[in-house]
Amino acid sequence: MLITDAVVINQEEIIPGFFRMTMSAGEVAKNARPGQFLHVRCADALDPLLRRPVSIHAVDREKGEVALFYRVAGRGTALLAAREKGDRINILGPLGRGFTRPESSGKVSVAAGGIGIAPLYFLLQELSLINTYANVFLGAATKKQLFFSSEIEALGHSVFPATDDGTAGYHGTVVELFTQNLSDTVYGCGPAGMLKSLCRILEQYKIRGEVSLEERMGCGVGACLSCACKTVSAGENYRYSRVCVEGPVFPAGEVVWA
Ligand SMILES: Cc1cc2nc3c(=O)[nH]c(=O)nc-3n(C[C@H](O)[C@H](O)[C@H](O)COP(=O)(O)OP(=O)(O)OC[C@H]3O[C@@H](n4cnc5c(N)ncnc54)[C@H](O)[C@@H]3O)c2cc1C
Ligand code: FES
Repeated sequence: MLITDAVVINQEEIIPGFFRMTMSAGEVAKNARPGQFLHVRCADALDPLLRRPVSIHAVDREKGEVALFYRVAGRGTALLAAREKGDRINILGPLGRGFTRPESSGKVSVAAGGIGIAPLYFLLQELSLINTYANVFLGAATKKQLFFSSEIEALGHSVFPATDDGTAGYHGTVVELFTQNLSDTVYGCGPAGMLKSLCRILEQYKIRGEVSLEERMGCGVGACLSCACKTVSAGENYRYSRVCVEGPVFPAGEVVWA
């Protein structure tokens, strides 16, 4: 873990309100693992005081570059979106526990809901480096929010889109589409409702899965307990895990959904 000033190389608004920002951050690029996140100081001023957690979206180790893909949700992310090429951004990370590698054989899938593709894209980059190609179930409210289909296909993976309004691909949810194309391992990220129904399917069909969770965070390093979520592991009692340290990626069967 490292506190450093990254330099913005590029800030691109992919569709209104959704930005991909590339930064020069050599040490982070070298050490980052898919599923980890950065705790980002969105402004130079003390307001907002708290950093904001954002997943590591893509890494170019040769160039020492790291990309974030984020939605403007409030004040912190709006300030982040105002950063320009050449600006310095203070980041803490890489933080948290990421995705584990799939077994060497078996079919691998990725299920992403909307902005949930953010950390999964980095996972897909790493999977293609080990010649593991996934079925990628990309879900969104509507066609224009199906992000990075062509980049994902360029990595060698197969994309299966699903939209709530039927404007592209399967007309329905990404979990319904995955259920029609089950695999041995699945990695998921997206809204809580989507992950809850994905975990239910994984339990029903005894499929190995990991999901990346989001909770509001304070410190990002395990000290303040603001990010606790209820978990359970086989044969144990319920407990509270810190999403920033024990997560954000959890085995699907360990998450206790409300
Ligand atoms: C591990 C982790 C990784 C994340 N990765 C990404 C990412 O790659 N891209 C991305 O767009 N967002 C990501 N998020 C969510 C992002 O951190 C929040 O959108 C951001 O902190 C909002 O800050 P804000 O100041 O803009 O909005 P605020 O004014 O703080 O909040 C605006 C709205 O967003 C909600 N919100 C704030 N923080 C969270 C949170 N952590 N989870 C869910 N809802 C929240 C608030 O309840 C409120 O409704 C991640 C969150 C976590 C915990
Ligand atoms: S954010 Fe402080 S313990 Fe997780």
